[in-house]
Amino acid sequence: MTSYGFFDDAKREYVITNPKTPVKWINYIGTLAFGGFVDQTGGALICCGDPSLNRITRYIAQLPASDPRGEMLYVRIRRMDGWTVFSPFFTPTLDAFEWYECRVGLGYTRILSQIHGVRTEVRIFVPQGQFCELRDIQVTNVSDAVMEVDVIPVVEYTHPDALKQFTNADWVPQTMQSRAVWQENGRLVLLQYPFMLRDERVNYFTSNLPVRSFETDRARFLGDHEYGTWDRPLSLQQEDLTNYEAQRGDTIAALLHGLGRLEPSETRRLIVQLGQAQGLEQAQGTIEHWRVVENVEAAWTEMAKIWDERLRVLQVQTPDVALNRMVNIHNPHQCAVTRDWSRYLSLYQLGLGTRGIGFRDSAQDILAILAVEGRAAKPFIRQLLRIQLADGSAMHQFNPLSMIASEGDALEREDRPHYYCDDHLWIVQTVCAYLKETADWDFLQEEVGFYNKKDPLHAVESATVWEHLQRALAFSRRDVGAHGLPKLGFADWNDTINLPTGAESLMAAALYGRALLEMKTLAEFLGERALAEAYQQDYDWMCERVNAVAWDGEWYVSYFDADGRPLGSKANRAGQIYAYGQAWPVLAGFAKGERAQRALQSVYERLNTRHGIKLSTPGFNGFDPHEGGITTYPPGAKENGGIFLHVNPWVMIAETMEGNGERAYQYYCQINPAMKNDTIDEFESEPYVYPQNILGDEHPQFGLGRNSWLSGTASWAYLAATQHILGVRPDYAGLVVDPCIPRSWESFEVCRRFRCAFYSVQVYNPNHVCCGVTKIVVDGQPIVGKVIPVFEGGEHRVEVWLG
Ligand code: NOJ
Repeated sequence: MTSYGFFDDAKREYVITNPKTPVKWINYIGTLAFGGFVDQTGGALICCGDPSLNRITRYIAQLPASDPRGEMLYVRIRRMDGWTVFSPFFTPTLDAFEWYECRVGLGYTRILSQIHGVRTEVRIFVPQGQFCELRDIQVTNVSDAVMEVDVIPVVEYTHPDALKQFTNADWVPQTMQSRAVWQENGRLVLLQYPFMLRDERVNYFTSNLPVRSFETDRARFLGDHEYGTWDRPLSLQQEDLTNYEAQRGDTIAALLHGLGRLEPSETRRLIVQLGQAQGLEQAQGTIEHWRVVENVEAAWTEMAKIWDERLRVLQVQTPDVALNRMVNIHNPHQCAVTRDWSRYLSLYQLGLGTRGIGFRDSAQDILAILAVEGRAAKPFIRQLLRIQLADGSAMHQFNPLSMIASEGDALEREDRPHYYCDDHLWIVQTVCAYLKETADWDFLQEEVGFYNKKDPLHAVESATVWEHLQRALAFSRRDVGAHGLPKLGFADWNDTINLPTGAESLMAAALYGRALLEMKTLAEFLGERALAEAYQQDYDWMCERVNAVAWDGEWYVSYFDADGRPLGSKANRAGQIYAYGQAWPVLAGFAKGERAQRALQSVYERLNTRHGIKLSTPGFNGFDPHEGGITTYPPGAKENGGIFLHVNPWVMIAETMEGNGERAYQYYCQINPAMKNDTIDEFESEPYVYPQNILGDEHPQFGLGRNSWLSGTASWAYLAATQHILGVRPDYAGLVVDPCIPRSWESFEVCRRFRCAFYSVQVYNPNHVCCGVTKIVVDGQPIVGKVIPVFEGGEHRVEVWLG
């Protein structure tokens, strides 16, 4: 049993007590507009609007954990014979601490530590909507002697073009410059910019206290031609830094603050700002504002209030503490982060080059934040619709600033299709979910342009949102292969099955089926009878096709290649069964009765492990260009027999649709990271967020989690828990309550905002069943059915009995 920290639910924090976590553990601050991530030793990757073209700090994720990354903090104490220098963040000086706490909070990280008689507490956050990071530092003398203390915060800059930093070691250092501007009362602003941006965009680093000296050149700071090191910078053994304004090279910003003599128990407070603005003149107001302690306190309180409001939208009380902890605090936090950053920037998604926002990823991420964002989600959904092509398909990813999109990896091979068969289908679910949550019917009539590949900034054709959705379905209806199933294109949701042109995808067939059901229901709700009827016919046709050609005896095959050979079949040597290939036919309603149960039982028998459901089995063992990306991984890794977590909640939801609450809950617990806290040496990743993948049982490191934070697992695990296991989900006519829980639960409670009202739903399970609502009482009045009516406001008590 090893753990590196604990959950502090009252403070809504995870507390890392040992900074030597097995891999770096991070948290996010700010937003994509300005922000980034902070790791457990205070290193930070900060960018403004675009991690690839406007990156500020130099954080190299692949460096060893003991190396500094982006931002550092040094404290030094004067001794008779020089200085004792240490970092309250552990890295890079690596001194042994009396105690250490890195508190991972909602929108902030707090690092508290004590060493050499100095206690330091640092709050790291980006005030709401601001373009600067604050580090609010309090230093206390906890010894019984007076001590003279200096505090030196440091930033290491990158070229804003993050890839160029690594590919051009001539141009980059020739252009990087710094300028120092002394201000009233000894305060200092250090500006930094690449020469070409000097007059339009500068980074600034400043504080609220007088600065004694500064450094902007890394070589000078480390000393001795960089044979001085980050853990013992030679400059910090000098009385002062050199006050050098770098005109080229590796630029940093270091501000030496002499805090003077601290009496025992005395505390000093230093507020450091790292920001970006057009120029110093434009930033001056902001700089002054954040030099005032009261303003920083107000921003801190405001941030807490914002999270109070966000979390209040959905709170649960169940017998499972780890579930409560995730659903009430950490899972919505991760959902907000994925909604914001898509797959753009993490320790694993490095935000270099043209990656941008993923269309399918974001279309799914949004599903989980609709309850919180409501109509505020609309601009982002609109942005996604702009990436849809007039033929109904969609581009794969886009840069949110330039709105230039690309086909992503689908361009990898000349001889393969340059589109994914699933992107456009996700947006149908997204818009329908948005309408169920908000009843914003006008949105359907809004005109939105289609993406114009020739001239991305000028749409030549636009249509209503309603028409966009219809075109998405029309694309999949047309684009079918020999068996009548949608063609695979370059890939479906599984990026790594890349087959020669002409292959077909069962996942796309099922996604299409789910989208048809959604559109049929919506058309009926809107009174568009003929359209609803047409969609029903398309649905029946696809359902017939899937069941006629894809049933393999005990499960569904997942693909047909261009020659009609199945993949995901008993007939294959590797990749005989795919988990999503079973879950999605159930979610689409294509698999019913015995077939649905048999397919899900096959998942349990063939794919389940104690760490979660594997995506496929057995793994391919050797690279095969015919099979594509999946064979680039060894067996048990990622899509090739790994536990790809994103798929797990789909199976949970499918199980709830079959009424199997025990199994849905078992699957939920298996992947709940909060339950791994005490066995973390196996898992290694952060216990407060879902990772994308865990190594499967064919791999020697079975159970090892990787690619944390930015994964569709966040939103789907949240939906599986709240909307399907606890069973409280929005629909056009009201809030549906239809739980599917483990039998042992006596009762549970869900408090949820839906449109303008709050619903406090108390569910009783006196007969210990999984599902089956027998009675609902709303505000003391029994209702018929499972749909709680829409209220204009107020708080409403809903009592539900299962039996
Ligand atoms: C990660 C990608 O971000 C996501 O879009 C994809 O669906 C999964 N990999 C599965 O291949």
